[in-house]
Amino acid sequence: MAINQEMLPHLSPVWPHYTPIIASRASGSYVYDQDGSAYLDFTCGIGVTNTGHCHPRIVAAIQRQAGLLLHGQINIIVHEPILDLISELRRIVPPAMDGFFFSNSGAEAVEGAIKLARQATGRANVIVFQGGFHGRTVGTMSLTTSKTIYRAGYQPLMPGVFVTPYPYAYRYGWDEEQTSQWCLDELDYLLYAQTAPHETAAILIEPVLGEGGYVVPPAGFLKGLRSICDQHGILLISDEIQSGFGRTGKWFAYEHFNVEPDIIVVAKGLASGLPLSGVISSLELMDKWELGSHGGTYGGNAVACAAAAETIRVIQDEGLLENTLERGSQLMAGLRHMQEAYPSIGDVRGLGLMIGTEFRTSDHKPDKGIAKAIVQACLEAGLLLLTCGTWDNTVRWIPPLTVDEAQIKQALDIFTEALEKTVT
Ligand SMILES: Cc1ncc(COP(=O)(O)O)c(C=O)c1O
Repeated sequence: MAINQEMLPHLSPVWPHYTPIIASRASGSYVYDQDGSAYLDFTCGIGVTNTGHCHPRIVAAIQRQAGLLLHGQINIIVHEPILDLISELRRIVPPAMDGFFFSNSGAEAVEGAIKLARQATGRANVIVFQGGFHGRTVGTMSLTTSKTIYRAGYQPLMPGVFVTPYPYAYRYGWDEEQTSQWCLDELDYLLYAQTAPHETAAILIEPVLGEGGYVVPPAGFLKGLRSICDQHGILLISDEIQSGFGRTGKWFAYEHFNVEPDIIVVAKGLASGLPLSGVISSLELMDKWELGSHGGTYGGNAVACAAAAETIRVIQDEGLLENTLERGSQLMAGLRHMQEAYPSIGDVRGLGLMIGTEFRTSDHKPDKGIAKAIVQACLEAGLLLLTCGTWDNTVRWIPPLTVDEAQIKQALDIFTEALEKTVT
């Protein structure tokens, strides 16, 4: 097919482009451009194609459903794939989480979760964490504090949002225990000083900070959060949009911390590339959501639901959670080894295949220049990586959960060469 490249400048300039690639196809861990050049894709469309590009079973499920029913608006008809998806989801979420609402994008689902929390508690305020990213709609940009670019020029924001520190131990330079305690104390302080518990509907957290820098909280932090929520009747919302669907080696990242949230928000990896998101909680909670007060035309689209149900089966049948842990250890070990040789890699952290390498200058300042130069050098050598963090100084590793040992080795080799070239 001839592609009219003259149309490129007509893409809205609001979209930055991290690579010049015009892709014609993708398969497994690789994306192919128009000349047929292969790129090892460790971005996964920002944590979406967890089952690898165009997994044959998921493509077949999409094709099958496309020939049966493309769209059936949920208020008018209930289609089979949405029921199939619920039955798959019920196998991977706690039994008490038996209510499911679907929408299209992550931001839309976060908005849904906030609306649910407000109606269910009769309280208005929401507490979020410094460095969090929850979306770009007017509501969710108000909950987002990872970078000023997401809100500058768009204010005023939605009121009723209060920000508390995320336990980012490396940034503070404290040990995990001390960081965790300080952050819990600051949250407690916020509840005394700014948003009274009886006015606070929810605490919204990414159990592993995504866009804000791939930060894993200390072991006891989420437990502490859970107990503050229980003490005050505040709902705990886990934004699993980036950390969910196997990314950290468990279905959801909160599972690493032995807590159960009241609401889980999912998107990205859920449908392996089709737009689908969801809000999951107990039906008891959802019963407090006023009938007809929330919804949408496309939420729970039939083809997207078919892709999502098959995604869960593929992750299970192919042992992808186990693979994520194994390949994650391989990647982490390789990066930690590199850290010994290159002190500009200040920190290597992560869970499963959600790993960040943070770059710092010799006087411990965020080093965006090096992180960007390395990502560029990797791109030139055929490896796609992204940065994240408030200062864009953390390289994030998001390979597909299907990645194999040789591909991790290939990526580490390319990264080493890029470091050798870039770090003087
Ligand atoms: C943790 C988290 N929440 C919410 C969102 C927003 O999702 P979407 O871009 O699908 O609206 C993202 C997107 O990167 C995310 O990483």
